[in-house]
Amino acid sequence: MTFSKDALAGRVAIITGGGSGIGFGIAKAFASASAKLVLASRNEERLQGAVEEITEMGGEAIAVQADVRDYDSVARVVQTAVETYGGVDVMIANAAGNFVVPAADMSPNAWKTVIDIDLNGTFYCARAAYPALKESEFGGRFIAISTTRALEGWPGCAHAGAAKAGIMSLIRTLTGEWGKDGIRCNTIAPGAIGDTEGVKRIYEDAGRKANELSSIPLGEFGKTTDIANAAVFLCSDAGAYVAGADLVVDGGRNRGRASPIVSVPGK
Ligand code: HXC
Ligand code: NAP
Repeated sequence: MTFSKDALAGRVAIITGGGSGIGFGIAKAFASASAKLVLASRNEERLQGAVEEITEMGGEAIAVQADVRDYDSVARVVQTAVETYGGVDVMIANAAGNFVVPAADMSPNAWKTVIDIDLNGTFYCARAAYPALKESEFGGRFIAISTTRALEGWPGCAHAGAAKAGIMSLIRTLTGEWGKDGIRCNTIAPGAIGDTEGVKRIYEDAGRKANELSSIPLGEFGKTTDIANAAVFLCSDAGAYVAGADLVVDGGRNRGRASPIVSVPGK
């Protein structure tokens, strides 16, 4: 399923981590909906590959190397977007780092690294994009990628769980502060999305793939297009009245699991 070709026409979108996984999925869907793109992350070669693929499909995109832990680096991404395309209508804070390590073994620097990328990086993206977003003729959009694990507690990923919970709080605060500027702030909470680095690290490498699959009523991992479609919706005119939401896209993970009253065949 795709949105109409002009669903995001005239919009300029920055996507951090836009060269791989979910971020690249969002980039391709945005290009199909006619947005102009600025893809930002550390690995310039991978970003250039993504830009080439988007150009081949008829889209418009540039790559800007940046580390979201460095505010000046993020500010340069925004400045480049404004200089190249004349403004910024959408900022998608998708970049993240994560790895499985029990809290008792987690070094202080391992904790700090993930908090810096996920939580501080998301704030830097919001802060740097704010002046441009409030000038957007479409009503600016700020989207951060969270996870349902944020509010459940996340054994093995204390750093990422805390960071994502912080992101959810930040989005609610920004919704309150920036609504008057027409900026809609939301999170999208993906479940396990197949063929991504996240699922490889957290479930496949940890030997937990079958267990995770069994917790999903729809019976399969999501696709990057599932998250991309949610992002297109929120950033299009169709999403104009959605602010401060956490849009869960997880195949119903864990619903009906806690205290089954009826038995479901095959479960
Ligand atoms: C324990 C680890 C570790 C591991 C790194 N560290 N990997 N500790 N287990 N597997 C520790 C290091 O020893 C070091 O601490 C500190 O973390 C920083 O490590 P660096 O390698 O110096 O960091 P850096 O080069 O900045 O790389 C950041 C990174 C890396 C997060 C560690 O993995 C990365 O670049 N990740 C980006 C891609 C990614 O993670 N994608 C998945 C996103 S998925 P010391 O004390 O030794 O100095 C996601 C949610 C998925 O976010 C949800 C699925 C459902
Ligand atoms: P991914 O492909 O590894 O994406 C992470 C991206 O972040 C990469 O493109 C990486 O690019 C970029 N990045 C990492 N550190 C950075 C830094 N310091 N500065 C700038 N960019 C940085 O993993 P993914 O699974 O698609 O994850 C994407 C998002 O979805 C993350 O926010 C993740 O938490 C969230 N999520 C994923 C799942 C899932 O099932 N996969 C579930 C819930 C939430 P470079 O290496 O080039 O910097």
